[in-house]
Amino acid sequence: MNTTVTCIAPVNIAVIKYWGKRDDSLILPTNDSISATLDTAQLHAKTTVMISSDFKEDRIWLNGKEEDIKNTRLQNCLKEIRKRSQLSGYTNDWKICICSKNNFPTAAGLASSAAGYACLTAALAKLYKIEGDISIIARSGSGSACRSVMGGFVRWYMGSDKNGTDSLAKQIVPASHWSEMRILVLVVSDEQKKVPSAIGMKRSIETSQLLQHRIMHVVPERANKMQQAIVEKDFKNFAELTMKDSNQFHAVCLDTYPPCIYMNNISNNIMNLVHSYNDAVNDVKVAYTYDAGPNATLYLLEKDVPAVIGILDHFFPPFENAIEYRRGLPVEEIKPSQDLLEKLKFQKYPPGQLKCMIYTKIGDGPKYLNNPQDHLLDGQGNPIN
Ligand code: DP6
Repeated sequence: MNTTVTCIAPVNIAVIKYWGKRDDSLILPTNDSISATLDTAQLHAKTTVMISSDFKEDRIWLNGKEEDIKNTRLQNCLKEIRKRSQLSGYTNDWKICICSKNNFPTAAGLASSAAGYACLTAALAKLYKIEGDISIIARSGSGSACRSVMGGFVRWYMGSDKNGTDSLAKQIVPASHWSEMRILVLVVSDEQKKVPSAIGMKRSIETSQLLQHRIMHVVPERANKMQQAIVEKDFKNFAELTMKDSNQFHAVCLDTYPPCIYMNNISNNIMNLVHSYNDAVNDVKVAYTYDAGPNATLYLLEKDVPAVIGILDHFFPPFENAIEYRRGLPVEEIKPSQDLLEKLKFQKYPPGQLKCMIYTKIGDGPKYLNNPQDHLLDGQGNPIN
């Protein structure tokens, strides 16, 4: 006898960043964070979980490769799930097989652990008939994953309990609340070896005085202002807070010793272009944010997308023969006028500095796929293709 569940879960991009843990093994953060959940139509992780009396051991395949099930974070998730399971005693002891993959290339450098752990948690929660909050379970796999178990705009409350029972995510508003909001993910070419987030944030906690200032005196007030800007759909405030928070996060990374440098020359110049554009149109139309890597995520309203893509394509042109450069929602760009180009006073880059551009919007949380054709495991628990 066996039971199978397949699920897809979204990527989220923080506008108030999580950086720093007060407990490394429980993954408890040193500040609240806020993110937007991106539409699974463009970017998602997909996971199939299967429980069976026939399986001899737990097993997991990630993006086509079998991985070590003993991985600590994975074990944290599984233990938490089995503890809260509503299955009867003997079924609860059955072994499971897990198969997961992303619909975007890992090489694109997009954070995939958040979508991955949110997906695993949502799939297992259904399999084990778990009720109530599941963000705590996702958090035990990867901190930012707790924000991907819900759609719209989400706040992860740091909590104060030392066991982490109140460190969970809550939805601020659903995706429909700010339906005009759009996102452009600019994948920046990069070969530089990056310090993984978990190691970088540990180093920041140990060495950065700026991080202590951020935790104590900046984020508490800024997170509340951000929440208000989202509720009121106040784009100008939302955008300014987003950019300032990204900048402070990267300043903390530079204040870390030895420093963690995530943004590169192209990332910095996308940031400069956004400021030049906002200045030229005398308004705040676009916001950038960067995670622990060089890719830029731009937040903007639907009406401004054609003009902004026109400007990006002008200054950061793709290779002429680039395949699938622009992905996601359909859009016709508007070429910038000569007048605007003169106002921007910006240097044009040679082609190919950006690998691709993904155009998407805010979306919902994890979705269950009930068609057996969507399963990633066959009846015996082996990965399909
Ligand atoms: C810069 O969630 O990947 O993206 O909890 O150690 O798994 P772990 O870290 P992770 O860190 C994400 C950091 C960030 C900011 C954010 O998403 O809030």
